[in-house]
Amino acid sequence: MAFLSDTLARVKPSPTIMMTNKTLELKAAGRDVIGLSAGEPDFDTPDNIKEAAVAAIAAGKTKYTSVDGIPELKRAVCAKLKRDNGLDYEPAQVSIGTGGKQVLYNALMATLNPGDEVIIPAPYWVSYPDMVLLAGGEPVIIEGPLETGFKITPEALEEAITPRTKWLIFNSPSNPTGAGYSWDELKALTEVLMRHPQVHILSDDMYEHLVYDDFTFCTVAEVEPGLYDRTLTVNGVSKAYAMTGWRIGYAAGPVELIGAMRKIQSQSTSNPCTISQWAALEALEGTQDFIAPNNRLFKRRRDIVVEMLNAIPGITCPKPDGAFYVYPSIAGLIGKTSKGGTLIDSDEAFATALLEENDVAAVFGAAFGLSPNFRISYATSEENLIEACTRIQAFCDGLT
Ligand SMILES: Cc1ncc(COP(=O)(O)O)c(C=O)c1O
Repeated sequence: MAFLSDTLARVKPSPTIMMTNKTLELKAAGRDVIGLSAGEPDFDTPDNIKEAAVAAIAAGKTKYTSVDGIPELKRAVCAKLKRDNGLDYEPAQVSIGTGGKQVLYNALMATLNPGDEVIIPAPYWVSYPDMVLLAGGEPVIIEGPLETGFKITPEALEEAITPRTKWLIFNSPSNPTGAGYSWDELKALTEVLMRHPQVHILSDDMYEHLVYDDFTFCTVAEVEPGLYDRTLTVNGVSKAYAMTGWRIGYAAGPVELIGAMRKIQSQSTSNPCTISQWAALEALEGTQDFIAPNNRLFKRRRDIVVEMLNAIPGITCPKPDGAFYVYPSIAGLIGKTSKGGTLIDSDEAFATALLEENDVAAVFGAAFGLSPNFRISYATSEENLIEACTRIQAFCDGLT
């Protein structure tokens, strides 16, 4: 009898961990590596949020709470969804979990049976396909290539839907590309979804507040109210409020699904951290004033990175609408050889040689399901970004 489960064999180890380990190894050896692989803001959590957590501790709010969240936070989530997205939800339709990640995982665990298909547009957040596999489902990948701004077309969506399709996982603005769907683009996708009542939609709105220029965020149930009953709207405080370590995410959707998710959570982690829930309440209800200045900073950084990368022959870097990532294509560099003698026959070879030879850690595109690209997170200082792009330029100049 095998000790490890068969389910585990369906899941691959995270390719991003390989890059992280390599970065740590080089740093330990004294190399001055610039890490651009982190998926979190470099800002500190705002003081009003930290103070709410300290006050919660002082007031003895340190015990278990109801499994899927305190009523105060559920009500604040309902108010937020009404205020920002024009969506009406009752607290009974809300689930609070340990990060958006747990909420997504609960939803998939609560609904997937063997053979159920989940459509995932690529490039995708690395966790989606493996979560589907862990839950016993089948990921069905459809590509959103560079030519369509890393977005899927209604035709591609229509083609991928089968009678076994249970979910579409939709993420805009996207990790890893930063691409955001306009109202009209999303409407065109929802028209397809309206024709297939067996398909539910997981709308991952994690980067809602991190948008630039004149891009306006919109979410599935808002764009097509006819999909309200089959949409789970997922969001969290990690990104916009610089609270990645506090681990609070939430979802709103059909009561039956929320109840099923509660059952899973009750037998795994119970409630998310009590103190973090009180902090998240302040995040949602307190001042939102820091979001705009943070976004101005992110936009400046995005513009620097996009301009510097596009100046490199062989690299094409679209300008993203949101999040804090760029996803440049290296199609023009495939087949070349680095100064150190590595044949650049894939984006993995590119990212590995870039790290080994020029000390920049980025994540290769294959990890996100679309090649040949790499992902840079620009959630770091301008100084770091300029130095990193200068090193990438030097690496590419050395290719023959
Ligand atoms: C697209 C997307 N969804 C969900 C998450 C999960 O975030 P958290 O679990 O911190 O709420 C992340 C984090 O990187 C993400 O990029």
